[in-house]
Amino acid sequence: MGKCIGVLTAGGDSPGLNAAIRAIGKSALTAFDLQVIGFRDGFRGLMENRTVHLEGEILSGILTLGGTILGTSRDKPHKMPVGSKVQDMTEVMLDNYHRHNLEALICIGGGGTQKNAHRLAQAGMNVVTLPKTIDNDVAMTDITFGFDTALSIATDAIDRLHSTAHSHHRIIVVEIMGHNTGWLGLGAGLAGGADVILIPEIAYDVHQVAEAIRRRRHRGKNFSIVAVSEGALAQEDAKELAELKEKKLEAKDEKKQKKIAAALEAFQAKHASNTLRLSAQLELLTGLESRVTILGHLQRGGTPTAADRILATRLGSACVAAIDAGQYGCMVAVKGESTELVDLAQVVGKRKVVPLDHPWIKAALETGTCLGNQAV
Ligand code: F6P
Repeated sequence: MGKCIGVLTAGGDSPGLNAAIRAIGKSALTAFDLQVIGFRDGFRGLMENRTVHLEGEILSGILTLGGTILGTSRDKPHKMPVGSKVQDMTEVMLDNYHRHNLEALICIGGGGTQKNAHRLAQAGMNVVTLPKTIDNDVAMTDITFGFDTALSIATDAIDRLHSTAHSHHRIIVVEIMGHNTGWLGLGAGLAGGADVILIPEIAYDVHQVAEAIRRRRHRGKNFSIVAVSEGALAQEDAKELAELKEKKLEAKDEKKQKKIAAALEAFQAKHASNTLRLSAQLELLTGLESRVTILGHLQRGGTPTAADRILATRLGSACVAAIDAGQYGCMVAVKGESTELVDLAQVVGKRKVVPLDHPWIKAALETGTCLGNQAV
């Protein structure tokens, strides 16, 4: 029997995960004579040694499937809820890694997974990662798989919302995922022709948004589509958050750190309903009726697009080739038409945000889209 590699999917699921698992399994078996074991439910399955052999039938017919056949979880190796306690289970995972005599472990995930994989690499495992998330916010890669599918779903939703907004002469505020970055909101807003696009990278002034909608009405357009990223903040809220983050950095003793962590949590809880508040404010300021559509997890489900299938397949096979070449401690990143291996230390602790000089922002502004802040 040949050498064996492990694979797990962690963090939020995303279209293309099964395409990547399939590519890993097929190229490992076909091109490199490697066996593949999948761990169930992310790092938890590695800790609990719940495995499945990835070969034959199990790899068939999954290219087009959404979700992940392995299951996923947001559990972290060093902070794993076990019984009534939260424990560091890294050593247990290391034991299981050795029990299967693994050559390497492939961790597929977003920013959090890259961090956790890096921890396992530091603990002594040979780790290679793949970047996936609908948010497209993993550092050091041009793109993540899952993003293209979510972008299509969100764009389709905006297209559909247009006709109902138009018929009822309403504002429709559509909330788009993306965590704390605006790739998905900006991309879908642009592709769907939203009249206003609000993203976390540009703190907005609600009065400027209302003014843009009023101007449209004067031009005879008595409906508007507002595409808002879930992490977008009004200017005053962005200021409050920046101050809290500053205080967190400065806090020296544990008591202060806990107090600020609680304040940050309270801030997030309070702002979970930002989109509803924005809609109510716009109704008041413009006199137009406003409705909210929260796209939520719809954006993560279903069949991956052709682009995501191709990307996940390319990355999956490239990562097996990297393992075969003995290259570990890295993420397989996308660079243009090619892939490259990036040291995990360069990926962790960073987030790829939308740069203010990005061509999508320029195009949005030049086509008269309101981004909520004239200063941009
Ligand atoms: O990271 C992907 C993502 O869908 C984000 O866009 C969103 O903020 C988050 O996950 C939602 O997480 P959960 O599925 O745990 O609610």
